[in-house]
Amino acid sequence: MVETSFELKARDGRARTGVINTPRGEIRTPAFMPVGTAATVKGMLPGSVRDTGADILLGNTYHLMLRPSAERIARLGGLHRFMNWDRPILTDSGGFQVMSLAELRKLTEEGVTFRSHIDGSKHMLSPERSMEIQRLLGSDIVMCFDECPALPADKARIADSMRLSMRWAQRSRDAFGDRPGHMLFGIQQGGLEEDLRAESAEALQSIGFDGYAVGGLAVGEGQEAMFGCLDFAPEQLPHDKPRYLMGVGKPDDIVGAVKRGIDMMDCVLPSRSGRTGQAWTRRGQVNIKNARHADDPRPLDEHCTCPACRSYSRAYLHHVFRSGEMISGMLLTWHNLHYYQELMQGMRDAIARQSFAQFEADFHAQRQQGDI
Ligand code: GUN
Ligand code: ZN
Repeated sequence: MVETSFELKARDGRARTGVINTPRGEIRTPAFMPVGTAATVKGMLPGSVRDTGADILLGNTYHLMLRPSAERIARLGGLHRFMNWDRPILTDSGGFQVMSLAELRKLTEEGVTFRSHIDGSKHMLSPERSMEIQRLLGSDIVMCFDECPALPADKARIADSMRLSMRWAQRSRDAFGDRPGHMLFGIQQGGLEEDLRAESAEALQSIGFDGYAVGGLAVGEGQEAMFGCLDFAPEQLPHDKPRYLMGVGKPDDIVGAVKRGIDMMDCVLPSRSGRTGQAWTRRGQVNIKNARHADDPRPLDEHCTCPACRSYSRAYLHHVFRSGEMISGMLLTWHNLHYYQELMQGMRDAIARQSFAQFEADFHAQRQQGDI
């Protein structure tokens, strides 16, 4: 099978569950994509990431083009083989990361030139170059090259930026060409403005994509404003294509996004916070650094079946964090990714059973109880 497809299986309110079929395997939606920026989900073997329940990983054009370079990865057989992950990979297109990480950025109609945050070397990204890099990597789901303005910004600036991203979306589509088995997603921009989001959705739909992302959110606007935007933005996009909310988020952001019609998400939070001693559980956030865990023989979460909870006490997790041991980040990352994937499975099941509202109420009630 070389074709890709999106099958919606059930809806409950605006929440949806389904499957994206790709030649590298199924992606069950709503899907959470762990972030593997530098060709690794930090601290995890790919088989372990799969064991948490992940169907797809996210990789980054920006990081990989700088080190070790897309051409080198292509010579070594592509990103899947390079990092030993044979399931689907979605790659972000680089523009967003250039704006947050690179130095001496210069933005023109053509694209963006910048210096590497690693060694100061000079580079260029454009829609055409981003499509070429994502093709060299062998990405299954390719993202359009876009620009994401930092919020708050005035409406004229957000409108200009969105229209530039829409011209870049057309150039991305033209440069991507026809690649059976691979998908190209457009990215809606327009800040928090309903009319700009509608204009962006229109522009993307008239170009035509395999999926549609909601970009430009989770950039400092806060959850209330983000949910306000998600009350209209996903509905402006096609119902029969996957909708991907980029860079989100905390567990409660994810539940709120799924409720509003989002099918895919990614975030560094479960992996990054694992390395800084933060765990996410059904009862909310736990800081394993806290001295209250030092003598606690209980697991992080007695109901969790991950290796960190099955085999280790809070006292041990506290000790290895305080001692700077590598296994600390490994165990907490594993737990966090396991928790996130269990949350996604819970939502998929609840939508299929038409009980998402009950799921959401239980989710919030458990968190209200606080940590054990
Ligand atoms: N990651 C988080 N937000 C965005 C966005 O708006 N565009 C891109 N390309 N990546 C993102
Ligand atoms: Zn666990």
